[in-house]
Amino acid sequence: MWNKMQMWGAVVAMALGASLAQAADSLPGDPAAGEAKAGLCGGCHGFDGNSEDATFPRLAGQYANYIAKQIQDFQRGLRTNNETMAGMAAMVESEQDARDIGSYFQSQKMAKSPLTSADKKLVEKGEKIFYQGNPKSNVYACVNCHGERGRGKAPNVSVFPVIGGQHRDYLVKQLNNFRAGERSNDPAGMMTDIAKNMTEEELQAVTAYLASLL
Ligand code: HEC
Ligand code: HEC
Repeated sequence: MWNKMQMWGAVVAMALGASLAQAADSLPGDPAAGEAKAGLCGGCHGFDGNSEDATFPRLAGQYANYIAKQIQDFQRGLRTNNETMAGMAAMVESEQDARDIGSYFQSQKMAKSPLTSADKKLVEKGEKIFYQGNPKSNVYACVNCHGERGRGKAPNVSVFPVIGGQHRDYLVKQLNNFRAGERSNDPAGMMTDIAKNMTEEELQAVTAYLASLL
């Protein structure tokens, strides 16, 4: 009988296989066309994707396909944890526009400036959770899906977003939203399950670690 951790291992392997197979058919985005279309987004996310307020996630360096997926999820009512962003997503007219905008932000570099300074002890605890998880409570290690230092796996494995260097308060909000069932657009409930199994202390530690990775 498989345990939960082995099951996640299999899910990750399937996701990797599926993304590789899918990569060839996905519509390519054009970063130059995307720059013009992204003007609408810059007021909140920063024109280069480096927002300066933790309410608005950084999009610089994020995978184009992940960005396009989130836009579609907001449009289709699959991601329901923010009305402001749902309103903005409704203004993106086509899938091609979503991919162009996504490609533009993916091509931008994440700025090396965290909004908050982190507590060193908390960051150390968080690093351990990121790399080892917590086998006793079925918290599958983040590195398995989100890659070294939270930098993701590869652009064609965009099912797993870049989370290293993201604003801390944004990360905390997402984990709390997954936990509470307020965000449920994660494939196979992967994040919901993990977020629910984390203690408050683990959540605070791992987000402090991630936000420090710039
Ligand atoms: C008025 C402010 C505002 C504008 C303008 C805006 N957004 Fe957002 N966006 C948000 C907020 C707030 C969130 C965080 C939602 C949450 O808390 O879950 C968000 C989240 C997102 C996410 C999810 C990121 C992630 O890491 O999951 C994407 C992608 C995104 N926005 C893309 C865009 C694009 C593309 C545009 C322009 C068409 C845009 N946004 C314009 C406020 C804005
Ligand atoms: C089994 C794979 C898997 C593991 C392990 C995993 N995640 Fe995720 N995570 C995902 C997927 C898939 C998404 C994207 C969901 C979507 O499409 O909206 C995600 C999204 C997220 C997001 C939202 C990112 C954003 O920009 O909005 C955060 C935060 C996050 N994960 C944190 C973590 C942390 C912290 C850990 C370790 C404790 C972890 N994840 C472990 C698969 C995983």
